[in-house]
Amino acid sequence: MSNLPRHVAIIMDGNGRWAQQQEQPRVKGHEKGAEVVRDIMTFASRHDEIRSLTLYAFSTENWKRPKAEVEFLMKLLSRYLKKEQHVYLENNVRFHAIGDLSRFSASLQKLIRQTEEKTAHCTGLHHHLALNYGAKDEILRAVKTLQEDGLELTEEALNSALDAPEPVDLLIRTGGDQRLSNFLLWQAAYAELFFTRTLWPDFTPRELQSIIDRFKSVERRFGGL
Ligand code: IPE
Ligand code: IPE
Ligand code: MG
Repeated sequence: MSNLPRHVAIIMDGNGRWAQQQEQPRVKGHEKGAEVVRDIMTFASRHDEIRSLTLYAFSTENWKRPKAEVEFLMKLLSRYLKKEQHVYLENNVRFHAIGDLSRFSASLQKLIRQTEEKTAHCTGLHHHLALNYGAKDEILRAVKTLQEDGLELTEEALNSALDAPEPVDLLIRTGGDQRLSNFLLWQAAYAELFFTRTLWPDFTPRELQSIIDRFKSVERRFGGL
């Protein structure tokens, strides 16, 4: 039996370098990157084996970037959500945001919630977009929720209090660096990790499929023999 890539998570890195290669401002890379999000999400929604796709779009650390870049990313996100809602609906994709949304503007929070509500009836792919997401922050918030509710701290309880409770099967990072940058530290405990030098704006469904093909031949032992 080969492995099934039920939950695929991707660290979408390399937008800025892609733009610099083309002698364009960094934000052009983010614009192209948003188009690739649509292509990969659509591909995943038509893939028989992928049930969840989690994409890292903005980390709790990304606020450290220059103000103009952060503002551009916020505008791009809102433009993306408005423009792509119909793509989610056409492909029966259910949208979820993960991360601490409270730091976003009221209008952006509203748009994110509306996108979740409008796609809540979709029964195909679950698409999680990680926004102001950091795994340490997610775990801390989950522990606090359990404490406030007076619940016992068990692995199961903590797991279900997380923003995204499903374990990751396949975790990919584009852009050539080999680190997790605070992404899904709990859920990726037994994920297979794949790193590609391809910059996110150049990433294609074809490359994703070829990574899935390699993933399928890995022996996953989960500590057993
Ligand atoms: C990833 O691309 C997108 C975000 C973190 C928002 P980068 O903007 O990190 O691009 P590089 O890594 O600088 O090339
Ligand atoms: C990780 O990329 C975060 C996202 C892709 C959203 P970064 O570019 O922020 O990560 P570092 O700083 O290289 O670790
Ligand atoms: Mg980067």
